[in-house]
Amino acid sequence: MGEAGYEEMEPPQALVERLKDFRQEQTLALWKELNPQERQLLIKDLESLDLSRVDRIIKQSFLLRDRPIPSPEPVPEASVSTVLERTPEERERWWKMGLKAICEGKLAVVLLSGGQGTRLGSSEPKGCFNIGLPSGKSLFQLQAERILRVQRLAAQSVPDGAGRYIRVHWYIMTSPFTHDATCKFFESRKYFGLESEQVTFFQQGTLPCISKEGRIILETPYQILRAPDGNGGVCAALKSSKCLEDMAMKGIKYIDCYGVDNALVRVADPLFLGYFIDKGVATAAKVVRKAYPQEKVGVFVQRGKGGPLGVLEYSEMDPSMAYAINQETGRLRYNLSNVCLHMFTLDFLTQVTEELEEDSIYHLAEKKMSCVEGPIMGIKLEQFIFDTFPYAPSMALFEILREEEFAPVKNANGHATDTPETSRLLVLHLHTRWVTAAGGFVTHSVPLYSTGVEVSPLCSYVGENLEDICRGRTFHAPSEITT
Ligand code: UD1
Repeated sequence: MGEAGYEEMEPPQALVERLKDFRQEQTLALWKELNPQERQLLIKDLESLDLSRVDRIIKQSFLLRDRPIPSPEPVPEASVSTVLERTPEERERWWKMGLKAICEGKLAVVLLSGGQGTRLGSSEPKGCFNIGLPSGKSLFQLQAERILRVQRLAAQSVPDGAGRYIRVHWYIMTSPFTHDATCKFFESRKYFGLESEQVTFFQQGTLPCISKEGRIILETPYQILRAPDGNGGVCAALKSSKCLEDMAMKGIKYIDCYGVDNALVRVADPLFLGYFIDKGVATAAKVVRKAYPQEKVGVFVQRGKGGPLGVLEYSEMDPSMAYAINQETGRLRYNLSNVCLHMFTLDFLTQVTEELEEDSIYHLAEKKMSCVEGPIMGIKLEQFIFDTFPYAPSMALFEILREEEFAPVKNANGHATDTPETSRLLVLHLHTRWVTAAGGFVTHSVPLYSTGVEVSPLCSYVGENLEDICRGRTFHAPSEITT
């Protein structure tokens, strides 16, 4: 066919019809300007879209935005397991229950790692980030080693368990933007000592970005502008990748699901698991007290008096709510912060995956984006992992101390909060307290608040097992304590 022929070439009629049915024919507006290869790329890209699903998501999400929802109320304190009210006996009982379930192979860990780390200013997956600890370990390595340590603790908790084969399966969600780099990172570092068979990578989906009128936006004349479908996309992705089936086949009952960007995350925490099993709930979340009104954390709310629990994301919160004070306690009225550390039963996760798909309600995040027409304000469609909570027949909240378990890595160094530097110090300060409590001494040539020692997760998960290593010994900060 000559050049003239290509100019006359029309897009496939069936595709044109479908686009018209869903009012997305603007995606072909630049057709005449494309060369043959670009036309093929555009056709392929458009045909890869499940247009009826995308249309349902857009319609349902716009509809919900305009629908009144029950006004949020603070969560009653009585429905939270607080740090203060927990007794040592309870803690020990839950810890043991958790380890037992781990020994029985009932726990899997799901890591949400599909985010693009834009705020951190790095193009690498966030988990590859080295926050500057003495060991130079990445977030992925810290998490992998905590899994190794929990496996060890579980094995030691049963008679003759030392040689027992206990493996916690780790399902890692990536996105098309982070997948290859994540897999390569793990392979080149030999899975940080885990077995490759106990790690499964699966990709979350993407959705087209849309205009305020609900029209799909093009990134280039022949390519749709797409974005990951939010960390709640984990449900659909676990289903489409058959990981839910895989979990059921392995006899997994409980799923520990967490965000990658927390240097103190207690992955596969036996205490939280034991608490969760003891409460017999469908889902649970760890919470910390909100530090200050503008802190970029979602807060737990009750949807109407006596209604289900849910999270109101910071990006969607009215400032008057963020600053409201409880006159009786003097604390922030909404002070139970979400830290993206959740537990689910496999049954509930499987069921809610269907419900979320049926309802197809996504958050509409207005963002500056660059498209074929240049920079514009467009809409990203996102589901959040905590969108599952209002569907749960029962839910429990478990308070934790931020200085023990929450060291977020969100912003690049130089920002005031949640940077690699602030999280590095949180890790060093906690570990230094562990070492001194175990009878060790720490020396330092700079003020202690700006340094400390690091304890390898391979020796200790929550400060245990350090007496033999530390008692009477002196460690010069900064340094790493290994076995
Ligand atoms: C998240 C929580 C917020 C909480 C805060 C605590 C959500 C939606 N928000 O906010 O309520 O107070 O952490 O630090 O959970 N991710 C994906 N795919 C995506 C988007 C994100 O896997 O499409 C992952 C990220 O890699 C990260 C986690 O989800 O591990 C949190 O995502 P992010 O968008 O960074 O949430 P925050 O705004 O920090």
